[in-house]
Amino acid sequence: MMEQDVFQKDRDYYMPVFARYPVVLERGEGVYVYDSEGRRYLDFLAGIAVNALGHAHPRLVKAIAEQAGKLIHCSNLYYTEVQAQLIERLAKLCRLDKVFLCNSGAEANEGAFKLARKYTHRMDPEKSTILSAQHSFHGRSLATLTATAQPKYQMGFGPLPAGFDYVEYNDIPALEQKINAKTCAVLLEPVQGEGGVRIPDADYLKRVRALCDRFDALLILDEIQTGVGRTGTFLACEQAGVAPDIVTLAKGLAGGVPIGAFLASNKVAEAFTPGAHGSTFGGNPLASAAAVAVLNVLEDDGILDNVKTCGAHFLRRLTGLQQKYHNRIKEVRGKGLLIGLELHEPGRDIVETALTRGALINCTANTVLRFAPPLIVTNEQIDEVVDIVDRALAETG
Ligand SMILES: Cc1ncc(COP(=O)(O)O)c(C=O)c1O
Repeated sequence: MMEQDVFQKDRDYYMPVFARYPVVLERGEGVYVYDSEGRRYLDFLAGIAVNALGHAHPRLVKAIAEQAGKLIHCSNLYYTEVQAQLIERLAKLCRLDKVFLCNSGAEANEGAFKLARKYTHRMDPEKSTILSAQHSFHGRSLATLTATAQPKYQMGFGPLPAGFDYVEYNDIPALEQKINAKTCAVLLEPVQGEGGVRIPDADYLKRVRALCDRFDALLILDEIQTGVGRTGTFLACEQAGVAPDIVTLAKGLAGGVPIGAFLASNKVAEAFTPGAHGSTFGGNPLASAAAVAVLNVLEDDGILDNVKTCGAHFLRRLTGLQQKYHNRIKEVRGKGLLIGLELHEPGRDIVETALTRGALINCTANTVLRFAPPLIVTNEQIDEVVDIVDRALAETG
């Protein structure tokens, strides 16, 4: 099929919800993807922080192929060894006790809300409010888009579920005003991803943790974008020295195979009883095998060290760009390989120009170029992309 035919079929048959870029991607290898015309791109979006090991990583491909030849799916009414391996690894990595496996970030957060509500319901049936932050992003199901405190995602979908309220991010006095005995949980991203790669003060999460403890509210950390090594530690909250009651994961966990997870301490997880929650596909053998392979490679290949060193290099290079284009670049910020470059102008033109120059990047919150390359990226590839962004800035200025 020609490129134009694919565009036409998409217009004819796909629901018009995506503002797609005009390329048809066909295959990938490492940090590169190739389109149907044979053009090569450095993939610095990685499926929005999903392709943690890049594309076609031999160990991930092998694990998926081997598992597909054995058992792709079976009901959660039965046990599988590979799921057992995954949940043990995850519980240890997240320093929590119990895991539930699902298929996406939104599902992970939905499950987390249900668990939190079930837990606090036993203390007081009215202890049900979930507080989330302005500019957050937690998913697009009805409950998760209600937690997502951005009107553009909520408009027209009412009535929205009750029991959600909002506070400014990185604002302890605002939380002190809102949190009370009826608060079930505080839900936060350790770094706001979609909201524009916003990084809170170093002591913010610790102070939130203390407030949650004071009001017997649970702390739910949404590590769907920041988790699985993206910021240089397995969970971003490790850097803040904070332990959540519930943590949610998805995106990079199985390197591109759909998966989600939420984890909790025993004390909280005990609120769930048989039948309280479930999933047909969640943690099926194929997804579990992919996730185990990702965790193995992260550990065996010292990927977290790469995230730290390459992330620091990337920030340095972008800060250099900021000095060069100080009238157009407002700020550069990031943790590990989740990096934002905030412009004084909308970023879409720069993203489109970078695409024609061979780099996939993304713009979020209208003015923030977001970089989330595979965790196996090299400094040389980073340099190439910074040069492409440099040229794109020059050409669009
Ligand atoms: C922090 C965060 N939470 C939740 C989600 C929703 O994940 P999914 O699209 O897999 O439902 C996202 C997706 O971008 C996210 O970044």
